[in-house]
Amino acid sequence: MTTTPDIATLPNGLTVDEARAEAARTYELDRAHVFHSWSAQAQIKPMTIVASDGSYVWDGEGNKLLDFSGQLVFTNIGHQHPKVVAAIQAQAAKLCTIAPQHANDARSEAARLIAERTPGDLNKIFFTNGGADAVEHAVRMARLHTGRYKVLSRYRSYHGGTDTAINLTGDPRRYPNDYASAGVVHFNGPFLYRSSFYAENEQQESERALEYLERLIQHEGATSFAAIILESVPGTAGIMVPPPGYMAGVRAICDKYGIVMIADEVMAGFGRTGEWFAIQNFDVTPDLITFAKGVTSGYVPLGGVAISEKIAATFADRAYPGGLTYSGHPLACAAAVATINAMEDEAMVANAKRIGSEVLGPGLRDLAARHRCVGEVRGLGVFWAVELVADQQTREPLAPYGGSSPAMNAVIAACKSGGLLPFANFNRIHAVPACNITDDEVRAGLAILDAALSEGDAAL
Ligand SMILES: Cc1ncc(COP(=O)(O)O)c(C=O)c1O
Repeated sequence: MTTTPDIATLPNGLTVDEARAEAARTYELDRAHVFHSWSAQAQIKPMTIVASDGSYVWDGEGNKLLDFSGQLVFTNIGHQHPKVVAAIQAQAAKLCTIAPQHANDARSEAARLIAERTPGDLNKIFFTNGGADAVEHAVRMARLHTGRYKVLSRYRSYHGGTDTAINLTGDPRRYPNDYASAGVVHFNGPFLYRSSFYAENEQQESERALEYLERLIQHEGATSFAAIILESVPGTAGIMVPPPGYMAGVRAICDKYGIVMIADEVMAGFGRTGEWFAIQNFDVTPDLITFAKGVTSGYVPLGGVAISEKIAATFADRAYPGGLTYSGHPLACAAAVATINAMEDEAMVANAKRIGSEVLGPGLRDLAARHRCVGEVRGLGVFWAVELVADQQTREPLAPYGGSSPAMNAVIAACKSGGLLPFANFNRIHAVPACNITDDEVRAGLAILDAALSEGDAAL
């Protein structure tokens, strides 16, 4: 790290020396006892974070880093928002916990605020602990509602780490978990830069992807599908914004064949694309929406399913066979209420939209024009991917699908040493900051990214 602490005391009141001592102990205990997600345990060196505030985090050396990662793309209101911290504290003093069969005010209000923001008649909210279990329940609801079993899901997607969710996932994390028995049929979705349909423009990509999807459904047995699950804008897989007409076309196919349309908004929801829900960019109403992450900005774990009247009616006089001990946990729901209210009061969704169209999007396009290692930038709101390539003509990725490379690692290291925390996946850097990031913070991040991309150019 070459960045130096710019204040002697961190936002949590620790001096830099105290923070370093705490971080050393934290790291030692982590390595001794913590088993990390998705990792070869002996090969990782987790970065210790000792403090955070707004768009910044501080590492174990006391270095201040601009957070362009949203952590795992969930701190949609930035770090330590005082109103949300206060609401969690107040709820803890009032009613820490209560069993899910009881009504509680935080859960009722969170459900109202979420339902009011979903499109169409998705008026009922089932709360889960996170995104994967939201996906599990959405699929279960669709199966019970239709009496069918198979589910369609696209390649280049992520839906969570539990059994059904990882089997729905279209990325290499599925392979070791794939029992070929989950009833999932994967398909290629639209992605013009790496088109599966030999398309030359967005319209062709959209039309051909829809034709192929419908043919696939017919060949698989049109009456065998309970649901199609799609991230409204695929996130971890590369922020491929669907072309005009695609989501409406999927909706029409679902209506034609009686298939439940599930929009997975775990990552794309709650302001990230400049709308409350990403599907609202396409004027489409799905039957179910899964959400998590941004609903509380990750301050307390919470997820859920927003349910249409039609599907909710299936369970009006027939018990829904599913539940969770912590469904609608008061602390999590109080965090959701405060998060949504803070986003509303401070116009964060509109800010995300403006940042995307006026600052972050144009800034990234400028970087793409100046760096040989950038193949494409794409996104909207505060949801952007920079696709790095070894060759702009052949579009060979700078790191292979599912892997890393020295050149990619050099770009990521240069971001961090320059004071920027990016989200990185295979050959991509994602710029996914908070919805309330300022213009100046975005410009500062772009300047660091500019320098880091020069490392990528140098590796070619
Ligand atoms: C689109 C999408 N769905 C589901 C999940 C799983 O959410 P969780 O990690 O909270 O279980 C994620 C997590 O990144 C996601 O991005």
